[in-house]
Formats: sequence, structure tokens, C-alpha cells
Amino acid sequence: MKVLLTHIEELLQVRDSAPIMVSGKDMAKLPTLKNAWLLLDGDRIADYGSMDVLPQLEVSETIDCSGKMVLPTWCDSHTHLVYAGNREQEFVDRINGLSYQEIAQKGGGIVNSAKKLQETSQEELYRQSAARLEEVMQLGTGAIEIKSGYGLTTEAELKMLRVAKKLAENYPISVRTTFLGAHAIPSEYKGDKEGYMDLICNEMLPKVAAENLADYVDIFCEEGYFSVEDTHRLLSEAAVYHLIPKIHVNQFTALGGIAMGVQHNALSVDHLEVLTEADIAALHGSKTMPVALPSCSYFLSIPYTPGRKLIDSGLPLALATDYNPGSTPSGNMNFVVATACIKMRLTPEEAINAATINGAYAMGLSQTHGSITKGKKASIIITKEVPSYGYLPYAFGSNLIDTVIINGERL
Ligand code: NIG
Ligand code: FE
Repeated sequence: MKVLLTHIEELLQVRDSAPIMVSGKDMAKLPTLKNAWLLLDGDRIADYGSMDVLPQLEVSETIDCSGKMVLPTWCDSHTHLVYAGNREQEFVDRINGLSYQEIAQKGGGIVNSAKKLQETSQEELYRQSAARLEEVMQLGTGAIEIKSGYGLTTEAELKMLRVAKKLAENYPISVRTTFLGAHAIPSEYKGDKEGYMDLICNEMLPKVAAENLADYVDIFCEEGYFSVEDTHRLLSEAAVYHLIPKIHVNQFTALGGIAMGVQHNALSVDHLEVLTEADIAALHGSKTMPVALPSCSYFLSIPYTPGRKLIDSGLPLALATDYNPGSTPSGNMNFVVATACIKMRLTPEEAINAATINGAYAMGLSQTHGSITKGKKASIIITKEVPSYGYLPYAFGSNLIDTVIINGERL
């Protein structure tokens, strides 16, 4: 089925041949085409051009986009979208003065979510997660990474990844999955982190690999969770199964995990709210994408990743939601883009690049997502009538999305 979009006020992120990512000063450049048309053929972008030279085309449907922007769907490269229940009590505890770390020390946090998830059936977990996935698709996300990490037993970790895989089968959105067994030390292993690391390496990893449940491996490298040495051990073991690292690092403390991730050719290092000069130096010359999660900083009232500094130093940056029940109960990439502009001083061009082309890179989807390029997936956002694309992050509280098409399917 061919769909033609006409009279597009401005077609954003148009690249005849797209780079796999944009870094430094190039992040400030967002190629656009004004007064444009765009042709979608089935699940692919077929062609585009200026309305001044619109060829005669046989199409099944025409969408008039007068006054509207069209852009590639958001690429959310870091989420924990599969989870059971919520943690609004911890939210209230934080309002009343407890810190995120204090709540975790009292048995809340990740292990609290793990307990809930272990008690939830796979069917119910699917139902809760599907509702969230449908919500983020309506908000313009067309590709998403989903982690395990709220299971913390072999069975429950596998259950999470099976749910993520089933979501991938049943929805048009592109899904990449990540094994995050090393998210926290479960209560049964309190005081025996080595024992839990053994379980992850000797039992979980082989089973995840045998069922082909994950594309990536992740670890929470942080004080009170897993050390740089644990990170080295896990990433070495995971490499045997060809699982590429995408790691949680430098959220609260800088331990040297970034250099370790880079040493293991991590596709991305995520969070980075606390960064040293050595961390930034480690990223230079690497292929590892730094990923900022500004709605996590917003929700936890912790520092924002110094994205301005990273970009000014010549590095790339990607933006993702971190959608999860504890630190970011929101999967809204529009809010992430706006918050990156408002709180991290990214320009709208930089934020849109970070949430599309660089997000696609951070989940290994550069060939199919992240730009308006012939042959890439027909996954696009049509906005409401807006005066400019800068208006999207500016009007941060408004839903400015009119239509979302994912993989050729109009929602
Ligand atoms: O990315 N920081 C580690 N993991 C998640 C939050 C986990 C939770 O609180 O449930 C994150 O923020
Ligand atoms: Fe996370």
C-alpha cells in the first residue's frame, strides 16, 4: 500500500544517505525540506521531494500535512518497559525526605519491583507491559529497547524477556532486548554478591542465549550494586554469547565503569549524571554512544547529564526515557526532548538528532531507523499544526502529535 503525504510544512531529519550517528558540531545540523512530499510504500520510505516537483503517483491514500511537521519516530534506546505494578509509595517517601538510595537500602527500589514481578504471571505481565507499549507508540516512539532486570531469578528474568519478545511479535514497533540480570543483588543473595554473579554467569546467561532472548547485556555499575570488576567479569562472559554491552553507569558515582564499558566495546553507556574528565576522555575515540536520561534526573531530582559539555567536546549524545517504575515512570520521548533543551541546554536540532539518529545507533538500528532516508522503515510522526519545529520542545506540556505511522501501520 502506497501512502503519499503532501504539503508538509517541513520534513525533518531528511538525509539522502544517513550517517550512522552525528557528533559534536554536526549535532546542531538538522537537515530539513520545506513544503515537501513523502511517499511511503508498505513498511518502507520510498521517496520524498519538494511540492514544486511532485511527480504523478498512483497511491492508495493521500494525507494533507499543511502546516504540519513530519519527522522520523523517536528511537528510545533505554527502557525497562516490562515491569509489574508500580512504586508510587516510594515516590511519596521521597517527597517526605528519603533519598532513592535510602529507599533501596530499606528493601525498596529494584528488589521491591522484583518481588512484584516474580509473583505476577507471564500473561498479566504481558498485559501491563502491552498497555505501556501502546501508550508510547501513540507518543511517537517507533523503535524501543526493553531490558530485563526486575526478575533477579533465572525464571523471572526469562519471563521478562519472553514478554518483551512477544510484544515485538505482536506490535509494529521495532524492539531490541537487553539482559539486565545484574540490576541489583536480590534479597536471597544479600551479602553474597559473588554467589549471585555466579548464578548470572553460569545459569542465566547460557539460558538467555540458548533461547535467543537478548541482543544486549547490561549491568548497573554503581556503589551498592555492581563494581567495575563485576562489570568486567559479566561483559567478558557475555561476549562468549555475542551479547554486546549497553550499561548503566555513573548515575550516582564515578567508579571507572565508563572506561570499562569502552574497553568491552559497549554500544552505549547510559545515565552519566556524574562525569569526570577521565570518563569523558575514555569516550573520545571510541564507538560507544553516551546516552542521557533527562526524565530520570527530573523525577529523582538528581543532576542532569552534562550533555552540553559532551557535545561541545566533540562527542555524540543520544536521549532515551529510561521508562521504569522506580526512577522514571514515563515513556514520553517528547518530554525527554523538551527537558534536554530546557535543562541540559541542547538546541532543538541537537535534541532531535539525539532522539532519532543517535538513538537508533544506541540500539543497533542505524540501517533502518532514525532518519527520513529511502529504504528505511516507514515510521514517522505527523505533528499538529505548529509554527516551527522548535515549538515542539518549547510547548513542553502539550501533545503536539497528530498521527503516528509505525512500520507502515497508521495507529
Ligand atoms: O535506570 N538505575 C538503575 N536502574 C533503573 C531504575 C531502577 C528502579 O529504580 O527500579 C534506572 O534508573
Ligand atoms: Fe535504566
